[in-house]
Amino acid sequence: MTTQRLRIAIQKSGRLATETQALLKACGMRLNLREQRLISHVENMPVDILRVRDDDIPGLVMDGVVDLGFVGENVLEEERLERQSKGQSADFLTLKRLDFGGCRLSLAVPEEFDYAAPDSLEGCRLATSYPYLLNRFMKEKGVNISSAMLKGSVEVAPRAGLADAICDLVSTGATLEANGLKEVEVIFQSMATLIQGHRPLDAPLQRLIDKLQLRINGVIQAKE
Ligand code: PRP
Ligand code: ZN
Ligand code: MG
Repeated sequence: MTTQRLRIAIQKSGRLATETQALLKACGMRLNLREQRLISHVENMPVDILRVRDDDIPGLVMDGVVDLGFVGENVLEEERLERQSKGQSADFLTLKRLDFGGCRLSLAVPEEFDYAAPDSLEGCRLATSYPYLLNRFMKEKGVNISSAMLKGSVEVAPRAGLADAICDLVSTGATLEANGLKEVEVIFQSMATLIQGHRPLDAPLQRLIDKLQLRINGVIQAKE
């Protein structure tokens, strides 16, 4: 008989990676993430850590491939909208909104663009990695735009003549400034969050999740 292990997906590298690892360690997990392996075993708990791209985490949780995921609400909501529009299941439980990974999804236009309101973008093409969040916002505002999907380098699209404006993540604003763009509208506020798949788990695994959740609450409270 093998003991079941809890599977947790975390971002391999990027804006959430360091703080997610620090949180797991503060919860008492002995992690050895030095090697560039996809899966790491926690030495002192029946837990396996999968390190993947953040964009893959919501789907891994929704499909039950992993039990828990630490992910930004931006990619989570984008995946949920995409699956919803395709009639695919997009169920998950939010266990805890975390205290790091804050950023916003914003519209940005070239410095010289005369922007007053969302309808200033009527007929424009926007480059983005978040077409579903962008289209939901524009639909609510009754503005017709087209979107160009770019997984990276979104901020160079206007200067490269690929788009009139962009919809991208902003935290410090340094990327926009370096590319001659100005932020004109925040369309989504995001934090890191901990999610669980919707399928019921065996009692020992669920008990482990409950314990982990209590520890996370304790770690966050201690910082407040
Ligand atoms: C985002 C965004 C910008 C940058 C903005 O990318 O695409 O490149 O952060 O941050 P700033 O306002 O502090 O300059 P990020 O690397 O977070 O995500 P990605 O790797 O998934 O594109
Ligand atoms: Zn990403
Ligand atoms: Mg980026």
